[in-house]
Formats: sequence, C-alpha cells, structure tokens
Amino acid sequence: MRKPIIAGNWKENMTHTDAISLVQTLSYELQEKDYDRAEVVVCPPFTALRAVQLILENDHIPIALGAQNLFWEDEGAYTGEISGKFLKALHCDYVIIGHSERRKYFNETDETVNKRIEAAFRNDLKPIVCVGETDEEREAGSTEEVIGRQLRDGLAGHDISKMVIAYEPVWAIGTGKAATPEDANDTIGFIRRTIGEISDAKVADGVRIQYGGSVSAGNIAQLMGQSEIDGALVGGASLDAKSFAMIVRY
Ligand code: PGA
Repeated sequence: MRKPIIAGNWKENMTHTDAISLVQTLSYELQEKDYDRAEVVVCPPFTALRAVQLILENDHIPIALGAQNLFWEDEGAYTGEISGKFLKALHCDYVIIGHSERRKYFNETDETVNKRIEAAFRNDLKPIVCVGETDEEREAGSTEEVIGRQLRDGLAGHDISKMVIAYEPVWAIGTGKAATPEDANDTIGFIRRTIGEISDAKVADGVRIQYGGSVSAGNIAQLMGQSEIDGALVGGASLDAKSFAMIVRY
C-alpha cells in the first residue's frame, strides 16, 4: 500500500515570521487521524526552515519538513548555494528537485537534477522529483517523450524506491487549470510504467507519484480517487492553512 503524501510547496513566499503563523494555524487545523491517512510535508523557503523546524519539533507536530532545492556540493566556495548537509542539519526529510520553475528560470536540466538527487541521497534526504510537459510539448503530442526523457536522464543510476515523483504539467501550475483527473491518471500510469522499465516492477508498484498543478480543496478528492495518484504537490493553495488542511483531509 502506498501512503498518500500531500506536500505544500510555498515557493518564494512567507518570511520566517509569516511561516511561523502558517504552520501553527495548520497544526490547529489538522488532527491525528489526518496524519494517519496521509503523510504531510511543508516546504518553506530556506530562510524559514529553522523557524518551522523548531515549531514542528517543540510542539511535536507530525508534519515533515522539506526544502525546495539543494546544491550538489556539500560545502565549499559556491556563493549563495545551500547544501543537503545543511538541510539535514535542520532535520529536513524531503527536498524538491527539478521543479519546472527551476528548469525554466534557473537552467535546471536533467543532468543537474541527477546531480542533486545524488547529493540528496548522500545526505539522507528524500527527493521529490518533478517532471512534466509544457503547453507546447503537449500540443505537439510529445508529452510521453518529454517525460520519458526527464525520468531516464534525471533518475539514471539512482534508487527510485527512495524517491517521490511529482507529475506537474507546466501549463497547470498556478493557472487555476488543473489537469483532468483522468488525464493526470493516464500520465502518471505512463510514469509508473516507465519506472518499471528503468528499474523493476516492484519499485514501480511501490513508488509514490503525486500530481501537482492548481490542486485545490475543490478538485483534490477527484484527483485522489484515481488509482495511480498517490498525493499532491500543492503550490498556491498551501499558503492558506484552511485550504491546505482541506486538501490533506480530501
Ligand atoms: P500550484 O503550484 O498549486 O500553485 O499550481 C504547484 C507547484 O508548482 O508545485
């Protein structure tokens, strides 16, 4: 059985003081039975990780902490970078890798995704690896080709059973136009089959694959009703404690 995993990607939002009130409000909203049903993760910006870590640990809140990126070297003369070693020291469990915004604005490639996964594993962090096609790629009918390449090149040589994969069609992110549950399920089925080819059937069956892109309290139940969808990576709706709690409780 694959336990659902609902992760909030706060992106470049929330000062550390805003983050404190968001995670506190979220913890009032969620109950023990919610955590039993789904694993809950929040991914604040780097500057808020320490503040959120302290609240989660001091108040024994069973929400896992994740970061939104990491650099592939553990330390050194790399001005401005943050390593997996630093994230682990803040008790992060997860790290998002290869988000489409990083691919688009910061030249992230399948090769750099691969190096970041290596760094995550070296530091005992679980990668949430994002894949997905753009609108043009979808229109051109190359969705499977694009995602197949992202998976084969991005994940090559790594243990996929220790990852979470997030299918995020780029055209659905932040647009309010989520993929239909059926389409998301089909593409996630394709991702699972591809992982079966790269790895093996057992890994493919066990790996959790999230859907991301305009997930809301209104569409989460139908998405989670699909056989292949194991959770959600939530952007905008994770910035509001009530909405995110409703998504967790889908
Ligand atoms: P969204 O973002 O929920 O705001 O569409 C999702 C994501 O980019 O992870």
